[in-house]
Amino acid sequence: MAVAVDAPAKINLALHVMGRRDDGYHLLESVCVFTRMGDRLSVEVADRDRFHVHGPYASDVPQDGSNLVLRALDALRQISGRDARPVSIALEKNLPVASGLGGGSSDAAATLLALARLWRIPADAALLREVGSRLGADVPMCLEQRPLVARGVGDILEPLEHFPALPIVLANPGVAVSTPSVFRALARSDHPHLPALPPLADAAAVAEWLRRARNDLHDAALSLAPGIADVLKALDRQGALVARMSGSGATCFGIFRDMTSAREAASGLQAQQPGWFVAASLAEGTGD
Ligand code: C5P
Repeated sequence: MAVAVDAPAKINLALHVMGRRDDGYHLLESVCVFTRMGDRLSVEVADRDRFHVHGPYASDVPQDGSNLVLRALDALRQISGRDARPVSIALEKNLPVASGLGGGSSDAAATLLALARLWRIPADAALLREVGSRLGADVPMCLEQRPLVARGVGDILEPLEHFPALPIVLANPGVAVSTPSVFRALARSDHPHLPALPPLADAAAVAEWLRRARNDLHDAALSLAPGIADVLKALDRQGALVARMSGSGATCFGIFRDMTSAREAASGLQAQQPGWFVAASLAEGTGD
């Protein structure tokens, strides 16, 4: 029987860069949420290993062993020693690649979660986090799929206990941005900490908090992809409570008061910019 798992888009609502380790990785503080919209992955036992990618962005991802999905399969097999039976993996690629939405990391995390179910490894096992961190700095947070604060190099995770669901519009101008290049273009890595994060009741309160927070990768990403400025302006013009860039870009998000206004803004923006990736989605809250 196939096990299907969502690989949601990861949005860095704020991302502060506060230092740099000797190995070049940066010390961060980031508030992350995950949208309903995303990639989708399914695994099932098969006669031999197979990997099939479909969906709107399928042609942008490698289908060989360099894909994070297959690297996740290899790593979990090797480390868990549980089950070497061949599996067939299907990935529906709905998120643009190299876009600041953690798509590859979320796909890798979904692979680990799906295989854990197929192979009956407890999904909260430290093992999954350990395997995830070997695959990429963002994979452990993508295993959580719920609002959290990430610290360290993204490996120290604090799930938030109370956080509202957020009506969101995602917009990407169709420019792939390489995360290592953005970090290399950073002028400074000694920014202040995130502002204190009190309980936030709704989207308006989150927007107000975000006005005091930053994405410290914004200027570096803008130097590589100047079109990001147009995306932020376009989201503002559609009535976003606040608009920011996610991760290392180029995807930007706008927060809206409700899903109706988010959907209207998304169709308005898509009509103006038919070549952009535009999507309205709910970023999951903690459900209280
Ligand atoms: O770990 P991952 O391969 O996803 O990270 C991509 C790149 O992002 C790294 O090679 C590094 O240049 C940069 N990075 C960083 N500090 C982090 C996370 C990522 O400098 N905390």
